Amino acid sequence: MSSFWSAWIIIITLGTIAFCAWLLIGNRKGMKNAGEDVSTTGHTYDGIEEYDNPLPRWWFQGFIITIIFALGYLVLYPGLGSFKGVLGWTQEGAWEEEIQEAEEQFASLYAGWAAIPVEELAKDASALQSGGRIFASYCSVCHGTAATGAYGFPNLTDNDWLYGGSGATIKETIMNGRSGAMPAWLDIIGEDNVKAVTAHVVTLSGGEADAAMAETGSQVFGTYCAACHGANGKGNQALGAPNLTDNIWIYGGSAEQIALSIRNGRVGNMPAHKDFLGNDKVHLVAAYVYSLSNK
Ligand code: HEC
Ligand code: HEC
Repeated sequence: MSSFWSAWIIIITLGTIAFCAWLLIGNRKGMKNAGEDVSTTGHTYDGIEEYDNPLPRWWFQGFIITIIFALGYLVLYPGLGSFKGVLGWTQEGAWEEEIQEAEEQFASLYAGWAAIPVEELAKDASALQSGGRIFASYCSVCHGTAATGAYGFPNLTDNDWLYGGSGATIKETIMNGRSGAMPAWLDIIGEDNVKAVTAHVVTLSGGEADAAMAETGSQVFGTYCAACHGANGKGNQALGAPNLTDNIWIYGGSAEQIALSIRNGRVGNMPAHKDFLGNDKVHLVAAYVYSLSNK
């Protein structure tokens, strides 16, 4: 915050409090004692007169207390422009403290679960509940709340794996991240061959395509694609090269989408989580992911 806006806020805040105090004290008339005549404002309606009494004492004192409280609060906590308050309280600090407390509370629980193999842990309902919460916080933005994926983000519930679906492999994926790179082929094989190999890829998962084109495409596939996707198109988990025969797609299985994947290439990035989640939480969320396709 610039010092101008800081001063602006300070002046308005303190000015308003001072104004309220003045209004309260400046307009206060002497309290009447019992039995004394009370004056009226002169307003009458249906014979009812409006008294011109000061605020009851308890009420007046209540206002004074709120003013003192406000001033005390503004000294202790941030509120006056960029003045941080003498307690040094911050939202972030309070949040971090809560996180810290939660970490301490759950650390031993997580450590216990981390000693159980992922496949075993995937049968423990309370571990899965915690793992599901970690998934909702850190993974659902990309993989969806139900882990069913989205365009460019793989479905984690279908037991079809780019990198492998054993407990250890899933954990490895989450710990260290993965990067799948499909090269762009347009400049290398030309548009005609892109169309032909698209036809071949369409037929791999049982789709309809021009037979002659698909035949040419099959040659192209053998030369350029088999190295990663395998001669029969079943993929290679060591490279993260997807199985092209199962009609499960990261980027869509229409001829247009397939051609787009081939023409321009694709890059899929699964970020590494070991540094900010740590081994034990990754272990837990790996068990959750494993459970999704191993009921
Ligand atoms: C920024 C988006 C993003 C976030 C956040 C993310 N992922 Fe991923 N994840 C991806 C992408 C993209 C891939 C596919 C990588 C590829 O195409 O090579 C992937 C791949 C995976 C795979 C491998 C799937 C397979 O078929 O082998 C697993 C398992 C996985 N993610 C689990 C998780 C878990 C658990 C979390 C949370 C801790 C998480 N991901 C958070 C984007 C993300
Ligand atoms: C260097 C290895 C490599 C080669 C060679 C390669 N690919 Fe790929 N391909 C990949 C990887 C890795 C992915 C997954 C990209 C990702 O994770 O985002 C992929 C993705 C694809 C996809 C998208 C699949 C989906 O589920 O949406 C298609 C289609 C495809 N490749 C076809 C081909 C064709 C056709 C060729 C030959 C012209 C080819 N690939 C050559 C590695 C390769």
